[in-house]
Amino acid sequence: MNGADPLKHRLTLWLKSEQAMGLPSVPRVTFSEIPTENMSKSRQRDIVAPPSRSIPAAPEPKPAAAVSTSAVLPLLDAPFDSPILPREEKIRLLHELDLNSVKGCIKCGLSKTRTQTVFGEGDPDAPICFIGEGPGKDEDASGRPFVGRAGQKLNDMIGAMGLKREDVFICNIVKCRAYLTDIGKDRPPSEEETLACTPYLVRQVEIIRPKVIVTLGLPSTRYLLKSKESMTRMRGNWYAWRGIKVMPTWHPAYVLRNYTEQTRREVWDDLKKVLLEIGRPIPQRSGKQE
Ligand code: URA
Ligand code: SF4
Repeated sequence: MNGADPLKHRLTLWLKSEQAMGLPSVPRVTFSEIPTENMSKSRQRDIVAPPSRSIPAAPEPKPAAAVSTSAVLPLLDAPFDSPILPREEKIRLLHELDLNSVKGCIKCGLSKTRTQTVFGEGDPDAPICFIGEGPGKDEDASGRPFVGRAGQKLNDMIGAMGLKREDVFICNIVKCRAYLTDIGKDRPPSEEETLACTPYLVRQVEIIRPKVIVTLGLPSTRYLLKSKESMTRMRGNWYAWRGIKVMPTWHPAYVLRNYTEQTRREVWDDLKKVLLEIGRPIPQRSGKQE
């Protein structure tokens, strides 16, 4: 079905990854059978195709036409119920998501000012997923998350946990750098930008299925918890999002700006809770590590 038409091929891959995730709003259709307006409603529903053989069985989504809004909306907050995928499949789907959807994305204005998108990186079987705010200047230049000063700090935090960067997954709430173009200063993503970009994050997390998500700073914490509370109130407490435990903690850039014993102790307290949750030993705090 790919053949000579690259657009059709990319759309097919995208549709397959949607189907693999078992999203309720994506009917299983094949290209030859995409419903058209002039078909009868019942014919449109009847052409839902059988699952593709190359994709592990996911719960059969209902055809979109048959699902009422009230049946769909609660699913957005319900625990993920698509299958946990084998490592190879996760790698393939993450790569596909990046290549077919994120890299060329123009869903929001940040596409106009970015150098490149920053998908995220790490172990697709990671027990922990760290979610930051968005790429900064260094990340925009390199295409990799958390590689600047805040990234060094995050590396220290991960190191203090007795882990390596490659053991976890690191990504952001938006995939393109948000900054004030006139003065070159980074800014938090707007609500509109967050709304446009977060379907990618949801998909990443759905593929990876970490045991714990650590949200770094306000934007990712507020997005996942749907809360307007302050970090002071939210950090250090367990929450759940889509069936995954969430531990909010200070953003490493905030730690660098407020390099006090209290801030550092709070981050360490939060990370210790995460280690306990994933059943890892808690290293002795050296005082230098984080
Ligand atoms: N700050 C973030 O929130 N994310 C990055 O990738 C880099 C800095
Ligand atoms: Fe697309 Fe996200 Fe970049 Fe906006 S920030 S252009 S939604 S990838």
